[in-house]
Amino acid sequence: MRLGLFDSGIGGFTVLKKVIELCPNNSFVYLADTARLPYGEKTAKEIIKIAEEISSWFSYQNIDAFLVACNTTNAIALDVLKKNLDVPVFDLIGSAASTIQESRVGVIATPSTVKTKAYTKAILEFKPKTFVIEQPCPEFVPMIEMDNINSAEITHVASRYLQPLLKQKVHSLILGCSHYPLITPLLKEILPSSVKLIDPAEALSLKLKLFMDSKVSNYSKKKKLVDLNFYVTSNIKNFPNKAKHWLNVFPQVNLVSLQK
Ligand code: DGL
Repeated sequence: MRLGLFDSGIGGFTVLKKVIELCPNNSFVYLADTARLPYGEKTAKEIIKIAEEISSWFSYQNIDAFLVACNTTNAIALDVLKKNLDVPVFDLIGSAASTIQESRVGVIATPSTVKTKAYTKAILEFKPKTFVIEQPCPEFVPMIEMDNINSAEITHVASRYLQPLLKQKVHSLILGCSHYPLITPLLKEILPSSVKLIDPAEALSLKLKLFMDSKVSNYSKKKKLVDLNFYVTSNIKNFPNKAKHWLNVFPQVNLVSLQK
């Protein structure tokens, strides 16, 4: 199958990785809207416009399914993506919410995602008595994109963000931005080992695998082949190195323009 996924930058790599682990025999079209990175503090109006442009671009990519690898767009404009795309759409927030078992849950995400309370609403739909606390983390994405992930500065920032969640004694922490799994070691250092980290990409990948198993016969018996196609909207020079660093591939990257 040919699968489309997008993010503002390298965050979607964490989704791509999880999906490849479970569903390797596929072709992927990865779009990074680097020209407008970060998305995390954009208004709903801006994100809806972005979702319209992204879905319009993907409608010409001949994909069989679409993965929303960006929580901010997922929280604000999932309906836009679903309406404009003619293929099944798999999302992070709905997928993760349906798997939550703990009664006290923390969510870290971008300010625009937190504003919508999309995670809280989705979790309460499945488990109405769950206590959910959401924490915006505006500084994480710029730091992760700059590869500033091992500094005293980010440790300090992370400790500050996690403090209110620790005070509320959460049992699990949802990584509600696809960039955040890239700083899992740092988060683990700060959190007690009893706090379970939840990467929504796991639930999304499982849902996708179930869907694929029902569509493609003998799917898992095929030889493992991954075909990766990368597109960015700016900064084309840096992207192959970032892919090499996080995905261990050095791809040919194509520059595209989404804005009309
Ligand atoms: N990685 C995206 C998300 O999951 C976007 C983050 C950003 O660009 O601020 O929300």
